[in-house]
Amino acid sequence: MILVTGGAGYIGSHTVKALKAAGLSPVIFDNFSTGHRSFIKATPAFEGDLCTASDLDQVFSEYAIDGVLHFAGKALVAESTQKPEFYYQTNLIGGLNLLRAMQKCDVRFLIFSSTCATYGVPERVPIPENHPQNPINPYGDTKLAFERAMRWFHEAHRLEYLSLRYFNAAGADADGEFGEDHDPETHLIPLALQAAAGRRPDVQIFGTDYPTPDGTCIRDYIHVSDLARAHVAGLQALMEGRVPSQALNLGTGGGYSVREVIDSVRRVTGRPFTVRETARRPGDPPQLVALVDRAKELLGWTAVESDLDRIVRSAWRWLQRNGQPGRRRE
Ligand code: UFG
Repeated sequence: MILVTGGAGYIGSHTVKALKAAGLSPVIFDNFSTGHRSFIKATPAFEGDLCTASDLDQVFSEYAIDGVLHFAGKALVAESTQKPEFYYQTNLIGGLNLLRAMQKCDVRFLIFSSTCATYGVPERVPIPENHPQNPINPYGDTKLAFERAMRWFHEAHRLEYLSLRYFNAAGADADGEFGEDHDPETHLIPLALQAAAGRRPDVQIFGTDYPTPDGTCIRDYIHVSDLARAHVAGLQALMEGRVPSQALNLGTGGGYSVREVIDSVRRVTGRPFTVRETARRPGDPPQLVALVDRAKELLGWTAVESDLDRIVRSAWRWLQRNGQPGRRRE
C-alpha cells in the first residue's frame, strides 16, 4: 500500500484519486488540521499527526506500506514569517519523524511535496532544478531543509526519493470531488473567483510596477490533476528503479501575469467584479516559471490540463458547487 500523508488536503486528495486510477492502494494519514474529512472517498484513513512519532509507528504497523507520498505540512508563506516555529516543527521535525518511521520498517520510497519557494528570488527564468536555492521565508527554508535531509538519508539508509518542486498549484478535480478550500484563502485564483461570485468585495492586484510586460507578477500555474499524475508517474518510476533520487520541477514552462489571470476569471465566469491595484506583497518575486524538461525526459510527464482558462473553469465549477469556501460542511 502507499501511505499518503496529507491525503485529505488539496493536492493529496487529487493524488489519492490518481493512485487508485492507476491500480495502486493508498492509505491516508492526516490530522485534519487543514484537510477535509469529506475529501476521503472510500479510502482507508488513519487520523494521526506527524509530530507524534507513535502515530506514525502505528500506521506503519497497521498497514503493509511499500512507499510514501508526503504532502502533510504547513504551506502558508505569510504565516511562516510570523510563526516560524510551527513550520520547523511540522515540516522539519514532523518530516524527520516520518523518515525515522520509514527507516524502522525498511520502507525505501518517498515522494515529497516541495516547492519553487526553495529557490527564493530567481537569478534567471525559466528556473532549472540546479538553480541556487536561497529561500526567502521559513516555509521555503523548511521545505529545503527536508530536501537536504532526504539526500543524506539516501546516502546513509538507501532511501530513494523524488522532491517534486511545484510551481503554482491551481484548479479542481474534473468530476467536482475535490478543490481548493483554504481558510484563510491567500491564492490569487480562488480569491478572484470569490470576488466574481460576490463573496468578497474585490480582488487586489499586489503591485503593478514589476519588471514584467504588464507590471504584474508572472507565475507558472499548474493544474492540480496534472500534479497528481506526476506523483503517480514519479512513484512508479522510483519503485521500478527507472529514475535515481533527485528533485524535479513541476510546472508548465510558461507563465501568466496577475492581470492575465484576472482576465481569464472574467472570461470564464462572465461576471463583473472590482479589481483594486494595491502595493506589492512583501516577498513576491516578479517571475516564477519552471524549466520542465527534466520531468518530461525522466517521467514522460507533461502538463496537459493546465491551459489557464481550463484551470479557472474547473476552479469556478468547484466554487459554485461547494458553497461558502472555508465553511463547507464536512
Ligand atoms: N496576488 C495578487 N492578489 C491576491 C493574491 C495574490 O495580486 O489577492 C498575486 C501575488 O502577488 C502573486 C500571484 O498573485 O504574484 C500568485 O499569488 P499566490 O498567492 O496565488 O501564489 P504565490 O505565487 O505567492 O505562491 C506560490 C505557492 C506557494 C509558494 C510560492 C513561492 O502557492 O506555495 O508560490 O513564491 F511558496
